[in-house]
Amino acid sequence: MTAPSTFDPGDLEGIADPYPRLAALRAEGPVRPLASGFVAVTGHEEALDALRSPACGTAPIAARYLDGLPEGAARDEMSHRINFLDPPDHPRVRGLVSKAFTPRRVTALGPWMEQTADDLLEPLAGAGPFDLLAEYAHQLPSLVISELLGVPAADRDTLTVFSDRTAPLLGVRVDETDREAAIVAAEEFHAYLAALLDERRAAPGDDLLSALSVAEENGERLQRVELLSLAATLYSAGHRTTRDLFTNGMSVLLSEPARWRSVVRGEWAIAEVVNEFLRYETPTLFVARIPYEPIELGGVAIDAFAPLLVYLSAANRDPAAYDDPDDFRPGRPGPAPLSFAFGAHYCLGASLAKAEAEVMLRALAARCPDLRLAGDLHWHQRGPFRGMDALPVEG
Ligand code: HEM
Repeated sequence: MTAPSTFDPGDLEGIADPYPRLAALRAEGPVRPLASGFVAVTGHEEALDALRSPACGTAPIAARYLDGLPEGAARDEMSHRINFLDPPDHPRVRGLVSKAFTPRRVTALGPWMEQTADDLLEPLAGAGPFDLLAEYAHQLPSLVISELLGVPAADRDTLTVFSDRTAPLLGVRVDETDREAAIVAAEEFHAYLAALLDERRAAPGDDLLSALSVAEENGERLQRVELLSLAATLYSAGHRTTRDLFTNGMSVLLSEPARWRSVVRGEWAIAEVVNEFLRYETPTLFVARIPYEPIELGGVAIDAFAPLLVYLSAANRDPAAYDDPDDFRPGRPGPAPLSFAFGAHYCLGASLAKAEAEVMLRALAARCPDLRLAGDLHWHQRGPFRGMDALPVEG
């Protein structure tokens, strides 16, 4: 039996580019037990197998985050978080959400998103250096998720603060002060959402929160605590990853100006550029799964309850799935990237996120054809998330 790998997931947090380390880990084997007790899955085929395995679930992951959380909103949210539910709760909640969060709802937002993207760019185009992340990549997804949920525009910034402050609840190495602030923020976040939910129940609108509160299947509805957890998850999941996908992808385009020119001149289809953003610079490096029984993955025997880290990022650059995986090549052949995961927990907002990124890219290419980088890039990995705090540009 080979010795466990010395790769430590935490090591990625301190470096700018995790891909060489992930490639080295994949070269050790697409499924590798780590000295830390995790099992890293880095091959595309093996990642798919793990994500679609009925033996693997997510509920025990919540237990890790619940440890030491006092009774209250943070605990309620974590106990009912959709991505940490297993059957029978997961299909029940997901079925109810799918009744309200429909493809029609996403399509209907299209013209409004296009107008909003253009309005955001109008004061920025040609007006000197600006931060593309703060001024644009954050703004559109945050406006969209607020519009979708029916959060009044005036309250959007407050909710973004709640969402940012509660993020450490899902952190890996969290400072005690941040954790206490996160617990307080979760109370405020839920109190806000509870009041909004009561308003919508009294006078339903055509927003998603109203639709979720009346969605019914087989005589069942979402419980209040489930609705609050879901609304908070949707608000946070709905804007942060979309912002990071767009920012990460734009940095790839702008760091080689010929790439940006190809977009501006229409040589690459916008949808294919966004698909390649997803493959090449996914904002979610990995997702976790727990096998409830001993399994075999890629020929490696894995014990029950050994936590799997499925590196979507590494799978997306597996040379067994993509030719020259470290080349950015929109329209390339190969399987769909795994950036939205796969199987039961496949991202609920995938089509919305893609639509948003496409709208943002199309509007930016039209308004700012001469866009260029105007400062250094500082990448970070925080837990599973990869991104930057700013993307300085001009043009
Ligand atoms: C580029 C943007 C996005 C990326 C890369 C992304 C990525 C992911 C991934 C990897 C998962 C699976 C987690 C797991 O399997 O453990 C997931 C689940 C989820 N995503 Fe997204 N997401 C994005 C945008 C969105 C948006 C816009 C929304 C909502 C409007 C959203 C809502 C959700 C929800 C609710 C789940 C949990 C689904 C479940 O457990 O059944 N995401 N997302």
